[in-house]
Amino acid sequence: MHLLRVQVPEFRALKNVDIEFEKDFIPKVFPLGSQNGGGKSTLLQLIFVLLHCSSHPDRLPFLNNLLAQVSIPEGESHKVLAKMDIWDGEKVVSMEFLCCNDTFLESLKSNGTATIGDISFASPFREKPLTEKQSQTSGKISQSTNEMNNLKVITEMTEVQKSDIMGKKTLLEEQLKLLNAELEVTKQEISVVRSMVESLMEFLRVEKLHYITGSSNAEKQPLLCRIVGMEVSETKSFLSKLADKIFLAAPSTQVYLFLSPDNRKLLFKAGTVDNYGTALKESKTKLPGFFTYNITSTEVITKSFIVARDQDFAERVNTGRYSGDHYQQVLNEMKQLLATGKKILPQLNPKDNTVEGVRFTTEDGTELYPENLSHGELKRLGICVWSRKIENAIVLMDEVENAFHPDWQYQIVLDLTEWGPTNQYILATHSYELCRALTPAHVKDLEPKLLPVR
Ligand SMILES: Nc1ncnc2c1ncn2[C@@H]1O[C@H](COP(=O)(O)OP(=O)(O)OP(=O)(O)O)[C@@H](O)[C@H]1O
Ligand SMILES: [Mg+2]
Repeated sequence: MHLLRVQVPEFRALKNVDIEFEKDFIPKVFPLGSQNGGGKSTLLQLIFVLLHCSSHPDRLPFLNNLLAQVSIPEGESHKVLAKMDIWDGEKVVSMEFLCCNDTFLESLKSNGTATIGDISFASPFREKPLTEKQSQTSGKISQSTNEMNNLKVITEMTEVQKSDIMGKKTLLEEQLKLLNAELEVTKQEISVVRSMVESLMEFLRVEKLHYITGSSNAEKQPLLCRIVGMEVSETKSFLSKLADKIFLAAPSTQVYLFLSPDNRKLLFKAGTVDNYGTALKESKTKLPGFFTYNITSTEVITKSFIVARDQDFAERVNTGRYSGDHYQQVLNEMKQLLATGKKILPQLNPKDNTVEGVRFTTEDGTELYPENLSHGELKRLGICVWSRKIENAIVLMDEVENAFHPDWQYQIVLDLTEWGPTNQYILATHSYELCRALTPAHVKDLEPKLLPVR
C-alpha cells in the first residue's frame, strides 16, 4: 500500500492541506515538516484513525472521539473530512471521508437517484433506547408472572386470606395486561426503526456511500466513506484490508486526538501521567497498528528473542536440524543497533530458562540492563524490532528523530528502508539531518513551513 495523496480541507489546525507522496520516489520515505503547531501530528493521527478504525467495531470509539471534534458549518449539508488516494499495488483507489446531516440525504433524494421517504441519520440511534426499554418491560413481566405463580389459595386459608390473594391476583393480571401491551408497542416501534435503518442503509448503498459510524456528538452526524467506482461491499472490504496496512508510531508524551476527552486531560493533571500511560496502553490493546517509542521498547526486544527461539525450535521439529540461525541473526542485528562495543543477550529465568528480558554488556564486560541503556539506544532498538514485522504498509511516524544524535537522525532513513523495505514511511519531523538523507522533493511541508536552510 502507498498513500499517494491526502487532502484535508479543514480539521483543527489543518487548512487546505493537499500533499502528494509520489509512488516512484526511492526510497519511499517522506519527511513531513512544518513549524511547531503546523498540524503534523494532527494529520498523521487523522489518517491513522480513519484508515485503522473505520472497519473494526471495537475501534469505532476511537474514531468517534476524533469525530466529536468535527462540526459541519452552519447551513451546510456535509463536510469532507479527508480525501485520500491509495495505491493498492494494482490501481489507484480514491477515497473520500465525509460527515453529513439529514439535509445531505434530502439533497441526494432531490438528485433523483433514489425514491425513499422517511429516512434520517438519527434512526440508528433510536434502536438502542427501545431495545433497552424492551428488556426492562420483559423483566417486569417475568417478575409479575413469578409473583402470580407464587400466589396460591389453599383450603386451610381463612376467607379473608383467600379474598386478599384473589385481589392481588386481579391486580397483577391488570398489571401484566398493561405490560404486555407496552411490550407489543415497543416491539412495533423497534420494527419500524429497524426498517427505517434498513431504508437508510439501502439508500446509502444505492448512492455508493458506506456508513461507518454515527458521531458521538449531539448532532449525530455520521461518517460516510465513498470510494470512486466501488460498490459499498467493495468499499467495506477495501477498508478492512487497508486497516491492517496502516501504522502509527509516536511519543507517549503526546496528546492523542483519538483518546476520550477525559483521558486526554490526564496528561496535564499533576501526578496523573501514569494514568495517561495506562490509557495509552489500553488503547494499544485495541489498536494493533499503534506503537509508542519508549513504553514497549524492551518488551518488543524481549519478544524478538522469544520469536527467534521458537523459530529455531520449529525448524528443528520440521527439519530435524537445529541451526540456531534465527537467534544468531537477532543477536547480530541488535548488536549493530547499539552504540559501539555494546552487546545484547537475552536474560533467562534461572528456574525454567524462559526468556524474561534482555541484558547488555559493554566492551569492558560491564553488565547493563535495559534501564541502563540510553534513551536513543532503546528507541532505535524498539523501532527496529517493530518495523521489521511490518510489510507493504503505510507507516506514519511522529518525531522519530527525538533522542537521536544527528548521525542517527540521518541514519534512521537508511535504517527504515533496510528494516522494512516494502513499506512507505511518512515522518513528521523537525530534523534537517533526516531530510538530508533524501532529495528535496521527498520533503513535504505543511504551513507554516520549516524555514529554509541558511
Ligand atoms: N480546534 C482547533 N482548531 C484549530 N487549531 C487547533 C485546534 N485545536 C488545536 N489546534 C492547534 O493545532 C496545533 C496542533 O497541531 P499539531 O500538534 O498537529 O502540530 P505539530 O505540527 O505536530 O507541532 P509540533 O511540531 O510542535 O509537534 C496547535 O498549534 C493547536 O493550538
Ligand atoms: Mg507534533
